[in-house]
Amino acid sequence: MIRESLPDLPNPELVAVVAEKAARAAALLRNIARDYAPVVFANSLGAEDMVLTDLIWREDINIGVFSLDTGRLPVETHELIHETERHYGRKLEVYFPRHEAVEDYARLHGSHGFYGSVEARKACCHARKVEPLQRALAGKGAWVTGLRSGQSATRDKLKVISHDPVSNLVKASPLADWSETEVWIYLRANGVPYNRLHDRGYPSIGCAPCTRAIQPGEDVRAGRWWWEAPETKECGLHLVNGQLQRIALRDVEA
Ligand code: ADX
Ligand code: SF4
Repeated sequence: MIRESLPDLPNPELVAVVAEKAARAAALLRNIARDYAPVVFANSLGAEDMVLTDLIWREDINIGVFSLDTGRLPVETHELIHETERHYGRKLEVYFPRHEAVEDYARLHGSHGFYGSVEARKACCHARKVEPLQRALAGKGAWVTGLRSGQSATRDKLKVISHDPVSNLVKASPLADWSETEVWIYLRANGVPYNRLHDRGYPSIGCAPCTRAIQPGEDVRAGRWWWEAPETKECGLHLVNGQLQRIALRDVEA
């Protein structure tokens, strides 16, 4: 992983570049909070999202912070939720799936049905992530995500600010142009808590059964839904490069 190759004390020039980028991201967050209130941040507790959590909570920016607890998150993510709430003295708002949707899914596909087909996987993501996200975004003016354009082919055209055609809201990704190294410089320089799985080869973390460690040189999202082709690897929270495409439309209509 790139992060492990970082020196203990990164070059001060790099630290200054990251501090400058962080100041720009914080200014953007403040402007969005002012112009589109009420604004919320979808926090997966991944490394990028811990940068945003730190900016929003340490600088007391008026943006609500929520997480989607799919019911299948790794224990390390729950540990980080606990540690983060203690570190900042703040509470995350947590949204859970509707139990009827999970029961219907298990009846139809079985509890590990997502390994069977892309459609069955997307149906699980819909019940456990997309529908709860819709509730979290109801009545909001904009939402913030920790997406980066360098994360995958499905995100390489990501913009800092866009219109999300699914929620019909403004969507802000203040770290769109950050590198993974810059994320880790920020976390280290500011003593921000992070998921212990990152130390074990997991640069991108989702639900436990759908995430595994990657090998050196692999794409950062190679461990997510590793049995699928790269172009299908979005769960419905985000469209492929923000566009409504055939596969995404099926999800939205599901
Ligand atoms: S995912 O959509 O395929 O799971 P990823 O894990 O890279 O993507 O996260 C991208 C962004 O989606 C995060 O920065 C966050 O804004 C949002 N997100 C993903 N999972 C969650 C979650 N469980 N709770 C809240 N937001 C999430
Ligand atoms: Fe279900 Fe896996 Fe999607 Fe989590 S990531 S909601 S377990 S298919």
